Amino acid sequence: MLVLGVETSCDDTAAAVLQNGRTILANVVSSQDQVHGPYGGVVPELASRQHIKSILPIVDGALKKACATLKDLDGIAVTYGPGLVGSLLVGLSMAKAISFRTGIPYVGVNHLEAHLLAIHLEYEVAFPYIALLASGGHTLLYNVRGVGEYVHLGRTRDDAAGEAYDKVAKMMGLGYPGGRIVDNLAKSGDAKAIRFPRARLKKTPYEFSFSGIKTAVWHYLKTQGREQVENHRADIAASFQEAVVDMLVTPTIKAATANGVGRIVLSGGVAANSRLREKMKEKAEATGLQLFYPAPKFCTDNGAMIALAGYHWLKRGRRDDFHLNADADLTL
Ligand code: KG4
Ligand code: ZN
Repeated sequence: MLVLGVETSCDDTAAAVLQNGRTILANVVSSQDQVHGPYGGVVPELASRQHIKSILPIVDGALKKACATLKDLDGIAVTYGPGLVGSLLVGLSMAKAISFRTGIPYVGVNHLEAHLLAIHLEYEVAFPYIALLASGGHTLLYNVRGVGEYVHLGRTRDDAAGEAYDKVAKMMGLGYPGGRIVDNLAKSGDAKAIRFPRARLKKTPYEFSFSGIKTAVWHYLKTQGREQVENHRADIAASFQEAVVDMLVTPTIKAATANGVGRIVLSGGVAANSRLREKMKEKAEATGLQLFYPAPKFCTDNGAMIALAGYHWLKRGRRDDFHLNADADLTL
């Protein structure tokens, strides 16, 4: 079964062609980092305009790379939520148009589900597993029991982990998106230099909170002299990162042990973080848990994970009609 996956939920225009839910024939992404960089965050109106410019060349490029034409496709999978409504509509309209013109069936995919299943693009991971989904818009913990069986365990009460990275990078004048920049800068810093607070929610052990750490970094930057900040940028990045990583690792390990689940899977853009991978591995090994994480290109938004999630639903016979609408607040 050949499936075209289309993703436009935020600021990446992405398309992929996936064969039989296993073989990635093409996976093409056009990033809008340069468009949003000067603003230090995604500007929704600019994002949808950029998607309109990129969507045709990206879909065309994916098909060409896969040496396929529309006629070869058995199905189309497209993100219909959650995300920015103007951005979602570009991909969804494109998928509907191809489906209407060619008669190829299409299904709308939940972006969060696609992140949770992305690990299967590279590894055979048995169900159940505890999935930590940490991205620019979400920080969630699920017990993934199978395709379509997602038991919600916890979420962030305020900012998402990736959002905290992006905002701290902006405060420090490091650029956008901040996650990868902070990750790289932290490699030359001392993570113990500054003890930033770790939010612990005792009554709700699987919930997260990142607004406190963001404010703590802001306060630190305001109260230290310019020279102190300039001379210790790597230490600040490393200390901030260590606190965020601790706040992600502790509830995830706890969720696995308390639920008797032996596998942990990382997903979402923040799962590309080198320190998160390292520390989660350390703690998982010490607790006798297996850890899996996707290659960075499958952690951040991509068309292959959309094609994979869509493949499972198409295979089960689901078909969406043309009334399906974009849903900015879609939940799992
Ligand atoms: O999953 P994603 O591509 O888009 C959303 O669905 O949000 O995640 C993007 C987020 C951004 O906040 C970005 O700063 C963060 O993932 N990110 C990282 C790293 N690479 C991307 N955060 C920490 N370390 C990284 N290496
Ligand atoms: Zn995402």
